[in-house]
Amino acid sequence: MWFPLFWQLFTLIIVFMCRMVPKTQKRKPAMKITDKLEVEIMSEPCHNMIAYLDPEDKLIKYKGITKSLRESRINHAITHQTTVYKSMIKAFWDSEEVVEIDGNEVIRGRVNNLDVVVSVEILNIVLQLVDDPDASYSVPLKCQRGCLLRMKCVGDILGNQLNKSSLTLRYKFLLHVMIQCLSNRRSGYDVADNDLVGLMVALVLNKPFNISKYIFANMKENLGRTGSATGGSKIGMYACFL
Ligand SMILES: *[C@@H]1O[C@H](CO)[C@@H](O)[C@H](O)[C@H]1NC(C)=O
Ligand SMILES: *[C@@H]1O[C@H](CO)[C@@H](O)[C@H](O)[C@H]1NC(C)=O
Repeated sequence: MWFPLFWQLFTLIIVFMCRMVPKTQKRKPAMKITDKLEVEIMSEPCHNMIAYLDPEDKLIKYKGITKSLRESRINHAITHQTTVYKSMIKAFWDSEEVVEIDGNEVIRGRVNNLDVVVSVEILNIVLQLVDDPDASYSVPLKCQRGCLLRMKCVGDILGNQLNKSSLTLRYKFLLHVMIQCLSNRRSGYDVADNDLVGLMVALVLNKPFNISKYIFANMKENLGRTGSATGGSKIGMYACFL
C-alpha cells in the first residue's frame, strides 16, 4: 500500500527536477547578465551612489558619454567619495525640518548637538555645481520631447515618466547615472520623472539648470517619507552629499 504512494512521490520529484533544470539554464543568456554586471561595477550598493566613469576610457561601448560626464559640472557630485557615518546620517534625517532663514528655505537637522543646515547655496558650493543663480529649475516639456526625439528615444515621450531602456546605450547610461546618483528614488530605478529628464536634457544641450535646487527639492521630498531602517527608508538617502 505504501509502495504506490512512494512511487508517486518519486515521480513527482523527478518531474519537478526536470522542470527546474531547463529553467535555470534558460536564465543564462549571456547578453543580459554582462550588461547587468557592467552596471553593477559602476555603483556602490546604497542610495545616491558614486558613479564609475571609466577614467581610462577602457569601456569602448561607453566611450564619449563617460568622458562628457567627467567633464560636466555634475562630475564632482557624482564621483566624490566620502566617508559616511551611518549614525550621523540617521541623526540628521531623524531630526530634520524645513525652516526659513533670512527668507530662504533650508533643511535643518541636529547631529551631535550641532545644527546641520542644508540650503540650495550650500549644495551648490559643496557639490561644485557652478549653478547660474538665474537658471530655471525646469526644462519645458516641449524642449524635453524634442531632445528625446533627437536622441532616438523609442519610448513614450509624452508620459510623466521615462523608462531608461527606451534610450540608446550611451543616453541610457547617462540617465542611469542620474537616477542612481542624483534622484531620490528608492526603488524603480528604471524610470525618471520629468524633472530629472529635464536635468538630463539641460546637460546634453548645455542649457542653464539649477541643479542644486533640484537636489534640494528632492531632499525636501525625502523628509516626509517613512519606512524601516533598511534599504527602503529615507535614512540612506543622499548619504554622500550630507
Ligand atoms: C539657483 O541656484 C543658486 C545657487 O547658485 C541659488 O542661489 C538660487 O536661489 C537658485 N535659484 C532658484 C530659483 O532657486
Ligand atoms: C522598463 O523597460 C524594461 C524593458 O522594456 C522593462 O523590463 C521594465 O519593466 C520597464 N520598467 C517600468 C517601470 O516600466
